[in-house]
Amino acid sequence: MQVGTTVTQFIIEEQRRHAHATGDFTSLINDIVIACKAIANAVSRGSLAGVLGHAGTENVQGEDQKKLDVLANEAFLRCNEWGGRVAAMASEEMDDVYNLPAVYPRGRYLLLFDPLDGSSNTDVNGIIGTIFSVLRCPDGVTEPSAEHFLQPGSQQVAAGMAVYGPQTILVLTTGYGVNGFTLDDTIGEFVLTHPEMRVPEDSAEFAINASNQRHWEPPVQRYIDECLAGTDGPRGRDFNMRWMGAMVGDVYRVLCRGGVFLYPADAKTAKKGGKLRLMYEANPVAMLIEQAGGAASTGRERLLDLQPVGLHQRVPVIVGSKHEVERIVAYHREG
Ligand code: AHG
Ligand code: MN
Ligand code: MN
Repeated sequence: MQVGTTVTQFIIEEQRRHAHATGDFTSLINDIVIACKAIANAVSRGSLAGVLGHAGTENVQGEDQKKLDVLANEAFLRCNEWGGRVAAMASEEMDDVYNLPAVYPRGRYLLLFDPLDGSSNTDVNGIIGTIFSVLRCPDGVTEPSAEHFLQPGSQQVAAGMAVYGPQTILVLTTGYGVNGFTLDDTIGEFVLTHPEMRVPEDSAEFAINASNQRHWEPPVQRYIDECLAGTDGPRGRDFNMRWMGAMVGDVYRVLCRGGVFLYPADAKTAKKGGKLRLMYEANPVAMLIEQAGGAASTGRERLLDLQPVGLHQRVPVIVGSKHEVERIVAYHREG
């Protein structure tokens, strides 16, 4: 009998390449993986476990919380607070930084997460996921506050997402490419199934919420108009469109077969700066996409270069196949 490479084995072997690795990072990823397995289990049981529907509460962003948002957030906190790997955590579902209970040792990492991405898909059996980002805790800091989290995405030590779809798939980068692992529930482990994922540089598939079209800025209007014009337009070929309602799903597809995903700047979200959150949605996704050979921009700046100003800051997001993202950025430059 052969067991494939588990995510734990993969991380340990990757860490062996670094002389200074202490095993802390491997343990951190293990704890994240356990949280994702617990969430995957709740997601797959749905109504049978009584986890669908609204929680009856609102988060800091003024969004309605689903039961699964709350449950997934709890799973991440409980799995990661005890082990001495993180110094503090921050989440879409919590107003402020989560400082660890006094009984637990402080670790060297800061963990940020969107515990459940695509909340509006929970009750319709649509794709959902979890996104996470790992930063280093500044030296000497034992009770981190928001300012310690406000590091550009280029500083991320690791980023990943678990996608709860027909299969549960974990995609992970530690800065050496992107690898995908499928949860094998016969052994309870994520097994390497998608080594060295690469986003094709060219593609003819886009993902955008077209109901916002009237709010878009001219560069995005132009790009989408040209895609829609197909073989009759300046691009001279037909494009396809997909929109899953959960960035994790759209980004996973882009990692598999290319394309672009846009939640661009628009008049509707201008006051807030955009729709998606920089620290635990845009940055980890940008790292995954860049590590797989794609590009990630706001339209005007590389996402990973942004200096964050707030834990829950929102930004425009344009990620995917390099040549398409570069084209959209050029349209922004041209005005
Ligand atoms: P979340 O469920 O964490 O709030 O994020 C939802 C995000 C993202 O996943 C998705 O692409 C987008 O919101 C969906 O936006 P629309 O409601 O405009 O479709
Ligand atoms: Mn989200
Ligand atoms: Mn969420």
